[in-house]
Amino acid sequence: MSKMTKDKLRSRDWFNREGDPEITALYLERYLNYGLTREELQGGKPIIAIAQTGSDLSPCNRHHIELTKRVRDGIIAAGGTCIEIPVHPIQETGKRPTANLDRNLAYLSLVETLYGYPIDGVVLNIGCDKTTPALLMAAATVNIPAIALSVGPMLNGYWNGERAGSGTVIWKARELMAKGDIDGDEFMEIAASSAPSVGYCNTMGTATTMNSLAEALGMQLPGSAAIPAPYRERGQISYETGKRIVEMVWDDLRPSDIMTREAFENAIVINSAIGGSTNAPIHLNAIAAHLGVPLDNDDWQNIGHKVPLLVNLQPAGKYLGEDYHRAGGVPSVVAHLIGGGLLPHPGAITVNGVSMGDNCQGRAATNTDVIRPLENPLVTDAGFLNLKGNLFDSAIMKTSVISDDFRKRYLSNAGDMDAFEGRAIVFDGTEDYHRRIDDPAENIDENCVLFMRGAGPKGYPGGAEVVNMRAPSYLLKQGIEALPCIGDGRQSGTSGSPSILNASPEAAESGGLALLKTGDRVRFDLAKGTADMLVPLDELAERARQLLADGGYQVPESQTPWQQYFRDLTNGLDKGMTLRGAPSYRDVARK
Ligand code: FES
Ligand code: MG
Repeated sequence: MSKMTKDKLRSRDWFNREGDPEITALYLERYLNYGLTREELQGGKPIIAIAQTGSDLSPCNRHHIELTKRVRDGIIAAGGTCIEIPVHPIQETGKRPTANLDRNLAYLSLVETLYGYPIDGVVLNIGCDKTTPALLMAAATVNIPAIALSVGPMLNGYWNGERAGSGTVIWKARELMAKGDIDGDEFMEIAASSAPSVGYCNTMGTATTMNSLAEALGMQLPGSAAIPAPYRERGQISYETGKRIVEMVWDDLRPSDIMTREAFENAIVINSAIGGSTNAPIHLNAIAAHLGVPLDNDDWQNIGHKVPLLVNLQPAGKYLGEDYHRAGGVPSVVAHLIGGGLLPHPGAITVNGVSMGDNCQGRAATNTDVIRPLENPLVTDAGFLNLKGNLFDSAIMKTSVISDDFRKRYLSNAGDMDAFEGRAIVFDGTEDYHRRIDDPAENIDENCVLFMRGAGPKGYPGGAEVVNMRAPSYLLKQGIEALPCIGDGRQSGTSGSPSILNASPEAAESGGLALLKTGDRVRFDLAKGTADMLVPLDELAERARQLLADGGYQVPESQTPWQQYFRDLTNGLDKGMTLRGAPSYRDVARK
């Protein structure tokens, strides 16, 4: 028995207003003008929006323009009417100053669109990094039936016969160029080799992470997250997605029924097992906030840290998106976790109306080097740590990418396997970093810890992905590949640096980082979860007084109105960078 009936459809309030033919006519006539019929708009068919994120401006999601044809076919086959709606573009690699600034703008505009128009259900065209959280956040606020459709990763890239992963190969090329091994043209060639087809980043960067987590949260059809964009199955799952959203409207299955606290706990565990991006806590904390589900960075450590890394994808491992899909994708990761009793809530319901456990049970990986069994993980305890101290209240560290070299070099230098100390080198923004990093006068050596501040959501509107700083070229030439990096900005999910990032409060919010000076001694204890500058209390108090007298930590001026509105309203990265007050608007379509 379906829970929704024709006369209760939301869209009726526009197209079939009881006893109000005049208003109905006004709403109706313009939608007829491009060829829709009264039967499609008034015949009791659910009106399904396709939230279109694909465009020429958004290459990662552009293939959605093709896939949408199949989604439409599915919607019509199931008895729905389809209305495609534009979403504010968010291209990770094209938008200045950062695509993350526009996550909340796309969120706001999609909320208005879904709320203010006759829409009964929505297909969320997800893909490139911030499109996924923006659309899930909007679906959470409006809370009409919603299903996500990933555009899928690009095919594997190759360079010199080796897999060349999106982003990851760029970080590698950056080091080669700094050492003088390649020139600018070779850099371009390497970059292009990693982008061989339509689709999003083929590494386990923020895109593959967030698309996998959309499935882990139950918001995509099982097995759909990892299908490469050009594959036949991508078109087929698009058709199935279109059919399913119509059924979801009749079942009245809403985001708040699916994205429960249990679903988020599952997603945290799955994020550790896939080696997910450090952007994931920001975005999932935001989605949860918009649903009123409590979730914070302590949950990420408590629920996720002890989970092993099973997925062998770059940057933590060696394979790419096609391999991930062929090996079984998210359902296989979940099957392995269930086998070891590590999935906390197999009973969590998903968009197809079936539980996560029943969807994935028995779907063990077909290639156990790509998706490892629990007995043979790439890393044990692969989840994030949430560090705290006088430097910040919360910062995330992705332990799964700590290299053996890094472990040997640093995680013993303080006489303790889990701690490291060093001399702070503090950069205020990327220009400062580029100006000073290779200057021998800075005297940066292997005992230094690099700090990037002024790169949080307020300091650099949206938060810059700049915490993964490369070491000075003279150290690289000596074979020192990486220095520890700490900052209030973010880091690309495609980077393999074991940085400590997303530090909150940020320097621009007068967080502890604002008080740090180059030359200070700093200490990090991963076992205790602490991060401190070893500066006497009275000295810190004096610095805080001086900072206040100077008018606080100085940030560059905003360049656009939205940058300033964003800065005025944003919460910290630990709170998901939501807009102040926005999470209190819930379930708005029912009001
Ligand atoms: Fe769009 Fe990576 S840049 S997915
Ligand atoms: Mg990114």
